[in-house]
Amino acid sequence: MDAITDIAQRHNLIVIEDAAHAIETAYKGRKIGNISQLTCFSFYATKNVVTGEGGMVTTNNPDYADKIKMYGLHGMSRDAWKRFSDDGYKHYQVVFPGFKYNMMDLQAALGLHQLARVEVNLKRRNEIWQIYDNAFADLPIGLPAADAPDTIHARHLYTLTIDKDQTGLTRDEFMQKLHQLNIGTGVHYVGVHLHPYYQERFGYREEDYPNATWISERTVSIPLSPKLTNIDIEDVVETVRHIIKQN
Ligand SMILES: Cc1ncc(COP(=O)(O)O)c(C=O)c1O
Repeated sequence: MDAITDIAQRHNLIVIEDAAHAIETAYKGRKIGNISQLTCFSFYATKNVVTGEGGMVTTNNPDYADKIKMYGLHGMSRDAWKRFSDDGYKHYQVVFPGFKYNMMDLQAALGLHQLARVEVNLKRRNEIWQIYDNAFADLPIGLPAADAPDTIHARHLYTLTIDKDQTGLTRDEFMQKLHQLNIGTGVHYVGVHLHPYYQERFGYREEDYPNATWISERTVSIPLSPKLTNIDIEDVVETVRHIIKQN
């Protein structure tokens, strides 16, 4: 973040952070959401705080906050949401074309209770992370990078890299074998430059981003839910080890 902030300051840019995977994180003593001018969080079903759909933007700048609220509700003037108040009906004005991105109170009620679980769930995922790190250390597969100094990691995804030259099987073959043995996996993510829209619209080619292509073809995420039981974790460990050792 120091490097990014430095570039932004030199070029007079605003940093908008994507913290969809990062609600637990801190950087050099500063909590995420309080580092750059704007930070975006996702509360989609796969995230660590879930409201079904929805998200949050944090900022210390009251002008951005006002504008975001207006963008989220049709570009209506600031106090439009109060228009059905006890003081009687108030007219609103649409001051620019906005969106319909407001979170329902029902979703917010779910989210508030989820917030109370963030630290407990992180603690459990930390334990699982440690078990995986120890269990896979001797295998010819890539493990997540070690934590950067002076940071708190969100432990959102435990990603392995499966390189056929090392393991004798491709990432997709590895996933298929895990699936057959009832272990779910995911890919986070296929590189943007490999999707047809971006290739057709911007002319991106596979070879333009060799490192992203390399990871995109080899990355796989294994189960990391805080709801995993100790037996589930053992299952994952034994199955991964079995598949890799078999080849
Ligand atoms: C890194 C990242 N950024 C942004 C998003 C988008 O969040 P949302 O689905 O809430 O718009 C996601 C996931 O869906 C994500 O994984």
